[in-house]
Amino acid sequence: MQTILVTGADGQLGNEMRRVSVNSLNHYIFTDVSDLDITDREAVDFFMKSEGVNVVVNCAAYTNVDKAEDDFAAAALINDKAVENLAIVCREMNAGLIHVSTDYVFQGDKNKAYTEDEPTNPLGAYGRTKLAGELRILESGCQYLIFRTSWLYSMFGVNFVKTMQRITREKHSLKVVSDQVGTPTYAADLAVVIYDAIGEKHYLKHPGIYHFSNEGVCSWYDFAREIATLSGNVCNIQPCHSDEFPSKVKRPDFSVLDKTKVKETFGITVPYWRDSLVKCINELRAKSNAR
Ligand SMILES: NC(=O)c1ccc[n+]([C@@H]2O[C@H](COP(=O)([O-])OP(=O)(O)OC[C@H]3O[C@@H](n4cnc5c(N)ncnc54)[C@H](OP(=O)(O)O)[C@@H]3O)[C@@H](O)[C@H]2O)c1
Repeated sequence: MQTILVTGADGQLGNEMRRVSVNSLNHYIFTDVSDLDITDREAVDFFMKSEGVNVVVNCAAYTNVDKAEDDFAAAALINDKAVENLAIVCREMNAGLIHVSTDYVFQGDKNKAYTEDEPTNPLGAYGRTKLAGELRILESGCQYLIFRTSWLYSMFGVNFVKTMQRITREKHSLKVVSDQVGTPTYAADLAVVIYDAIGEKHYLKHPGIYHFSNEGVCSWYDFAREIATLSGNVCNIQPCHSDEFPSKVKRPDFSVLDKTKVKETFGITVPYWRDSLVKCINELRAKSNAR
């Protein structure tokens, strides 16, 4: 039996890790910042050694892309320094580290899906701190898997799907940007991949960086329309350009991730983004009907 530590377990991906591992024969320990603040090296060291952790799944992160521009130090502490804490203790203990990064490490000026070995060039503070976290892991010499993902949503927390459901229910019309293109990722699908990777010990057999999102390509506008339609909300959604919503952060125009490596190495098939969206919206509906 392995002992698996999931950090940031109250977030979207962390909650999906709770669900996917419910029948596991391994011993899962779920922590969030109040139980284990991963920015505290001594606390990480003490916790992991006293629990005899074999694998860490790091779901903890500073994920507010806009706020990170004004709060770089806080974002760097969690996305960079805290990742180093985990990586160093993992290396000392010979434990595996499964970490999650982002499509925002790329500049987004291409029109072809990004492979893992393409040059990174983050446009904003969030992407820079996440890239720094990746480098800490590579430098540490621990056994690792890094999954770069994009446009994560789930039935937990605050995300684009839940926000669009609310807005398209409340408003008659809405503008959504159509000039940023990528792929949504249902956190439950990523959790399955991570869960299976632990079972197969891929961090030992095939360590490295992998891209994982759902299949397909869409703009935020396409995504919003599909969310409204599947939710049964009638709202006139119009496409617009990003400059209609001034922001301190320049986001990548195109951040589709090429998933060939993860599919071939792990022998998995990846669900199409619309199919996963249907599942999430059905789950949200079932949850609200149960109330
Ligand atoms: N969300 C996206 O669209 C997206 C896209 C691409 C990649 N990703 C990556 O995917 C991963 C999972 O994202 P997510 O959306 O599940 O994140 P999330 O919902 O924001 O969850 C992150 C969790 O980490 C916790 N946390 C923050 N600081 C911590 C600390 N010092 N110690 C321990 N826990 C701490 C947060 O607590 P508080 O809420 O109290 O801060 C939160 O519960 C992250 O690495 C993220 O960068 C996300």
